[in-house]
Amino acid sequence: MNKVNIGIESLGFYSPRYYFPLSSLAQARGLDDDEKYGKGLWQEKMSVAPPNEDIVTMGASAAAYALEGVDKTTICAILFATESSFDYSKSAGIFIHDLLGLPQACMVLECKQACSSGAAALKISLGLLALQDSHKKILVITSDISLYELGSAAEPTQGAGACAFVVSTDPKILTIENYWGHHAKNVPDFWRPNYMLHPIASGKQSIENYLQSLQGAWQQYHQESNFQLQNIDGYCFHLPYSRMAEKAIIHLYKKLNKQTLPDEMFERCMLSTSYSKEIGNCYTASLFIGLLSLLENNASSLEGARIGMFSYGSGCSAIFFSGIISEGYAKHISQQHTRVALDERSPLSYDEYEKFHTFAVADASGNMAIPQYQTGRFRLDSVVGHHRNYATASS
Ligand code: CAA
Repeated sequence: MNKVNIGIESLGFYSPRYYFPLSSLAQARGLDDDEKYGKGLWQEKMSVAPPNEDIVTMGASAAAYALEGVDKTTICAILFATESSFDYSKSAGIFIHDLLGLPQACMVLECKQACSSGAAALKISLGLLALQDSHKKILVITSDISLYELGSAAEPTQGAGACAFVVSTDPKILTIENYWGHHAKNVPDFWRPNYMLHPIASGKQSIENYLQSLQGAWQQYHQESNFQLQNIDGYCFHLPYSRMAEKAIIHLYKKLNKQTLPDEMFERCMLSTSYSKEIGNCYTASLFIGLLSLLENNASSLEGARIGMFSYGSGCSAIFFSGIISEGYAKHISQQHTRVALDERSPLSYDEYEKFHTFAVADASGNMAIPQYQTGRFRLDSVVGHHRNYATASS
């Protein structure tokens, strides 16, 4: 166990200002109704990033919220987890370091292993904090745009969004327990070669790998902690689509208990899927949006509850860990903030969706004016000499 409590002090969320209803997608793809997406995947809407939003603008908006009330001079590292990176060399976190005016005495790093790098960054930040003065804090940013080929089977599982959190020795929201389960295996289930715009997804294989990895990661977590499934009060699973939570808990329960899942266990992971249904897959951010969803939508207090968190990164590397919800956590989250962010999004027509989907920030000249649409606090303004320039939304 940690000698000092370390964990999540604050959580910030951001969704692009636009969404595409899955009922419109079903219509565009010639389905009779949207039952396959609604009942089959549990997806209703997908957040869609306009041309002037990317992982930096989304991550910066989420991080600005997470940093409210935090002394910025205490931030000693930014760990930026993403699988939507646009540069082989420069970390997206550097732009956010600049946009948010963070201290120069700061380490900035981009982390990658598909969707699991956010959870990995959280674990790394615990180790880094142990090397620092106790008042130092780490900003972890998870930000992704999930974009598949138009008309592909994966298209209804797209989404976009970011979640940022401050990790410190003052975990006002969640104290991380020091039990970790990992599972890694080289599998070709989902990947995006550097020269391709969209990932290659072997859908059914990826689901199979997800479930096997969950079992593998749980085994190590269980060996370390000695906890059974029943010792965990709430579950957050990585959500490539919301119904994956149901598949995950049924699979794990059946394998471990050789019985059908009781309703009461099923309920333990349902609230974490509420926001995902309205946003879609945000890769690295999905797990933490699930945590926010659980914290903000549980009718009774979760103080002292143990939350099990599972992150699956295709390819694959998976992590299972847990945390205890802090006393007074409710003062540090805001359901209203999240609801406003989701409810004030504008719906896109099919043509607008396709226009946003196919916009590419790339031009042989390396210079490009970016069409401007509604954003959060930050926007991508232009590309000059192949370098991205960002601005605050009002400038
Ligand atoms: N009413 C109710 N249910 C319906 C229905 C209807 N009219 N039509 C279909 N369904 C059900 C199906 O029975 C199926 O249910 P089961 O999963 O219980 O079998 C479900 O809806 C989905 O239907 P299909 O299996 O036919 O869907 P598909 O093959 O067209 O695509 C997908 C589904 C594989 C998830 C695809 O969207 C995809 O490839 N997505 C991207 C990859 C992905 O998300 N993988 C998940 C694990 S990998 C991961 O987690 C990392 C990551 O973030 C990508």
